[in-house]
Parts: sequence; C-alpha cells; structure tokens
Amino acid sequence: MKEKVYIFDTTLRDGEQVPGCQLNTVEKIEVARMLETLGVDVIEAGFPVSSPGDFSSVVEISRAVTNPTICALTRAVEKDIEVAADALKFARRGRIHTGIGTSDFHIKYKFNSTPEEIVERAVKAVKFARNLVGEVEFYAEDAGRTDNKYLARVVEAAIGAGATIINIPDTTGYTLPHEYGAKIKYLVEHVPSIHKAIISTHCHNDLGMATANTLSGILNGARQVEVTVNGIGERAGNTSLEEVVMILKSHKKKGLYTDVNSKKIMPISRLVSTLMRMPVQPNKAIVGRNAFAHSSGIHQDGFLKKRETYEIINPKDVGLNQSSLILTARSGRAALKHRLEEIGVKLSKPELDELYPRFLELADKKKEINDDDLLVLVDRDKNVDRSIRLIGLQVLCGKNLQASATVKLGYNGEEFTEVGLGNGPIDASLNAIRSIVRQKIHLEDFVIQAITRGSNDIGKVHMSVEYKGILFYGFGANTDIVQASVEAFLDAVGKALK
Ligand code: KIV
Ligand code: ZN
Repeated sequence: MKEKVYIFDTTLRDGEQVPGCQLNTVEKIEVARMLETLGVDVIEAGFPVSSPGDFSSVVEISRAVTNPTICALTRAVEKDIEVAADALKFARRGRIHTGIGTSDFHIKYKFNSTPEEIVERAVKAVKFARNLVGEVEFYAEDAGRTDNKYLARVVEAAIGAGATIINIPDTTGYTLPHEYGAKIKYLVEHVPSIHKAIISTHCHNDLGMATANTLSGILNGARQVEVTVNGIGERAGNTSLEEVVMILKSHKKKGLYTDVNSKKIMPISRLVSTLMRMPVQPNKAIVGRNAFAHSSGIHQDGFLKKRETYEIINPKDVGLNQSSLILTARSGRAALKHRLEEIGVKLSKPELDELYPRFLELADKKKEINDDDLLVLVDRDKNVDRSIRLIGLQVLCGKNLQASATVKLGYNGEEFTEVGLGNGPIDASLNAIRSIVRQKIHLEDFVIQAITRGSNDIGKVHMSVEYKGILFYGFGANTDIVQASVEAFLDAVGKALK
C-alpha cells in the first residue's frame, strides 16, 4: 500500500526570513495561491505576533486559499498563541505551530531554565493552543542537538497535551543523515503515544544535508516534511520542496507519494525567485537553469540516442516545456500571452498591452526572448518608487582617463542633472546620483548577473545600500549593464528616502 507524505510549505515563514527578501501581503497571496495549485497540504503563512504585516498576511492568505491548512507560528507564549489564533480566524482549517527549544544550548543559555520547566512550558502552550484552534503542531527547536531520551519525554508530553503533529527541527543543520534518521526511529520506538501523531521533519542546510536528512527522516517514519520553494530560508536555507517531491516521485518503489503536481514546480520556482529577487543558482537540482542542460559532446550524443541515458527526470514533469515556441520581434500578443501563462504569469489585457511594446523593444535588441527575459520584463515596474526615476544617462569611460557620468533624474517632482566622476562608469553614475539626492548612501553589496550567455543579453543587478544604519535592497535589469546598475541603485535609494 502506498503511503502519503504531507507537504508543509514554509516559504512564506522560514523562507521569508531571508534578509532583503521580504514580500508584501499582495505578493504573499500570489505565492500562496500558487502553492495551493501546486497541491501542498499546509502553508505556514507567518509568525503573526512578530509584526502587523505578518499578522495581516496570515489573515489574507486564510481568506485567499481554500484547500491547504493554514498554519501560524508562535513561541510557547500565551500572547503569541492568542494573536495567532486571531489571525487564523478565516482559515477553513487552521493550525498553530507552537514550541520551545529543547537542546541544552537552548535550555541553559536561551531560557536559563531546566529540562523539567521546559516540559511544563511546552505542555501549557500546547493545551492553550488546543483550546483555540482545531489543530496543534508542536516543535522541539534544536531537536537535532537534543538528547533523544529527553526529546522522547517532551514529545510524549506534547502529544498528551493535544499536539497531533510533532516537528523535529534540525535547526542548525548540524545532524548527519543517519543520525537524524536514527532520531526519528528512536521516537517511533520510544514514545508510547506516537501513533496518535504525525512526525514532521524540518531540516536546515548549513552543511548541505537538508534534503538528505529529510529523506532519512521519511525513511524512518516521518510523514510530513517542512520545505521551501528553491530551498530558501534562514542562513543556508531549508530543505527544498522540489527536491523532496522529485525524489519520492523518482523512487516510486519506496511506496511513498505526495499530492504535489510536479508540473507546477518550475512556475512556482520562478515566481518565488522573481518576487523575492533571489536568483536560483544555475546548478540547483531540479530548478536550476542547467538542471536539464547537456553540454559535453558525449552526453549530448547519448541523450539524443535515448533521453534516459543522461536524464533521470523528464523536464516536462517539472513544468519545463522544452519544445516551447521561440519568441522574437515577429511574435504577436497571443504568443506572448501563451508563453507567459506557461511560465505561471497571468496578465490582464491592459497589463499585456503595456508589456507588449517593451517586449518588442527588447526583441529588437535581442534575437530571441527567453523565459528569464520575460520575467524581467514583467517584473520591471514592480516596487519602483516613482518619487525618484531615471530620465537620462550618459557615460564616458575608457583607458587612462577618469570615467564621468551625466545623470538626469526626476526627484520629488522636479528634474535635476548632475555630472559625477568615479573609478568606472557605474561609480561615476552613482556619485552623480548622490550629488542630486545630497545624502550619504553607502553601497554595501553589488551583484551583476547575466541571464543567459550572449553579449546582447539582459543583465540583472542586485544591490544593497546602507542609509542611516539600515540596509535597503534594489534591483535593476537592462541590456545596458550601467543602466541596470543605476536602476538598481535608484530602486534601493527610493526605498531608503521614502
Ligand atoms: O528551524 C527551526 O527550528 C524553526 C522552528 C521555529 C520550527 O524554524
Ligand atoms: Zn527553521
């Protein structure tokens, strides 16, 4: 008999804790709707007590989606739990995810407490939550480094108090796969009431073992996995949804399945990457640009004779349409709309009408427009602060002479032109902008990324700037890399000076 593994998606909670990748409520709803289409069982929508934004995101996601259970995170604190229950009031099925640190590190240093007191606090929190919502999941934070005997005691107590899902986080990503599997097995064998609960895995990727640990947990009895799209999350991230789903799909003999429609994996991967402005590494398993690219002659030869020689997954199974139509300057609106929908972007008629001339403009510069180009085009005007915008840019640079840039900006309703000097065209442009806004804005981080390969390609620029001690993130994309950098800088500066 086949057994189901429940998919608990925490892209909008643990995933969203990545610095510089915060989403607004509208964007979160867009992701949540797509997670529903993907077929996840649970959406962890936020940590309501942490901010009014998180609270309203949980409320709005509860209203916007129907099928998945909506989950809200809390500490083992009554106020947190009350606020979470309130945020979940519109959820068709709501779950509170409450818990406490159980490792010696957490007990001694974080709580200055004792093992006995931690059990009491866990029980109290679960009971309190159980009176407010239909379903309670308990997490034993840093379970990866918690002594198994003590962990079994905490878990038995949490189940006794009413928790029906038990999360065993490897919070620091330290545990080895065989140790994590042994931990789950220990709980299955030593917690008397374990049959009343589902064990959940929650693994972090600090040593690159999140997926291996999750799999080991499943093979030893866990039936829920906590994952994020593209593996995003705190520090090195969480277990990636697409990897676990495709492992179980590829290894059917294990007798395990998920309800995820794997064909929707690419669209959601792109959506999350675009909205969070977090590029997917090209060699990322399943969703990286190179995951299905064969470059060596030997591989290409074998692949052309029989695809399975070098491909264990059919790209169509993850929503990659290899035979997709090629978009050029001769493509019409219908072809553009069709391709956008294939990659998960739905536009209204006015939005398509606005996009089409920009699409043609880019298609004139580049021979073929690929999916990444489209995503950049669609995203371009999002979050742009209109109080500061680029009107004109001209740079002079070359060998043995200092670069100069003339920048014309619209700023607070007026137009300003300044000339800046610098050690290159980008530095000169940024100095010109600084002269216009007359503020000390420090460039902290600057990443240039070419999307595909040609010299006529779009370049994406990610920047973060520091202003009065706070970091602001900016993004720009253009076939002209200096202009893309200026746009990214202005995006960040616009947010800083708002
Ligand atoms: O990593 C972790 O321990 C967590 C818990 C709050 C579930 O994210
Ligand atoms: Zn976590």
